[in-house]
Amino acid sequence: MTEVSVAKDDVAATGDLVALRNVNKHFGALHVLQDIDLTIARGEVVVVIGPSGSGKSTLCRTINRLETIDSGTITIDGKPLPQEGRELARLRADVGMVFQSFNLFAHKTVLDNVILGQVKVRKADKQKAEEKARALLDRVGVGAQADKYPAQLSGGQQQRVAIARALAMDPKVMLFDEPTSALDPEMINEVLEVMQQLARDGMTMIVVTHEMGFARSAANRVVFMADGRIVEEATPDQFFSNPRSDRAKDFLSKILHH
Ligand SMILES: Nc1ncnc2c1ncn2[C@@H]1O[C@H](COP(=O)(O)OP(=O)(O)OP(=O)(O)O)[C@@H](O)[C@H]1O
Ligand SMILES: [Mg+2]
Repeated sequence: MTEVSVAKDDVAATGDLVALRNVNKHFGALHVLQDIDLTIARGEVVVVIGPSGSGKSTLCRTINRLETIDSGTITIDGKPLPQEGRELARLRADVGMVFQSFNLFAHKTVLDNVILGQVKVRKADKQKAEEKARALLDRVGVGAQADKYPAQLSGGQQQRVAIARALAMDPKVMLFDEPTSALDPEMINEVLEVMQQLARDGMTMIVVTHEMGFARSAANRVVFMADGRIVEEATPDQFFSNPRSDRAKDFLSKILHH
C-alpha cells in the first residue's frame, strides 16, 4: 500500500509537464505541424532547432494557444489547454513566453511591465507585486533600470526584463522563441546567462535557438524539426557528434561552418 502511494507521488512530482500527442496544424494548404508527439518532463530543458519555416515558432505558439491546432491534444500538467476566457489568461501565465522581438509594453515603465500581469491575472497585492518585480529585475541584472521605459534600454536589457516579466507569473514552463536572434552580438551572452541560470534552478524550458553553445551546455534534449515534423530527438552530445538523419547532418553542417 505504502509503496503504491509513494510511486504515485513520485509521478506527480516528477512526471510530464507538457505533452503533445499527435498534433496537426495547417495554414491553408501548408501542413505546418505533422503528427507531433513531444513530451517535456518537469525540470527538463528542451532545445528545438531546425531550418527556417520548419514550424518551430508555430509549435511554441500552440503550447500557449496563440495558435489553435486542427487535431491531437496538448496538455499542461495533465490538463488540456483551455479554450478561452479567464482560464486561457491563466494558461498564458502558466506558460511564460519570450519572443525574438522585445514585446514589452512601451508606455509602461520596466517596473510596471513586471507588476502588471501579477496584479491583473494572478490578483496579487500591488505592494507584494512590486517587491517581487524588483527582486526579479535584480535577479536578471536590470534592477537599476526599473523606472525607465523599455525604449531607454538596450535590446539585451529589454529581453532580460521580458524574462523577469514572465517569471513574475510563477510559470510552470517557459518558452523561448529565438530570444537572442535580434540582439547585437555583445548582448547575446547576458541573456543566455540568465537562461542558463534559470535552467540550473530547475525551470522547465522549451527553447528555440541557434545558439549551439547554449544547447550543448543547458539542454537535456535536442529536438530537430524539418518540414513540420520532429525528425530527430537526442541528447545534445549525441545530436551534435552523431546526428542520424541526413536532414540534421545537412542542417548542422550549414550552421556550424559559417
Ligand atoms: N499565420 C500564418 N499564416 C500562414 N502561414 C504561416 C503563418 N505563420 C507561419 N506560417 C508558415 O508556416 C511555416 C512555419 O513557420 P514557423 O514560423 O513556425 O517556422 P520556424 O521554424 O519558426 O521558422 P524560422 O526559423 O524562420 O523562425 C512557414 O512556412 C511559415 O511561412
Ligand atoms: Mg520561428
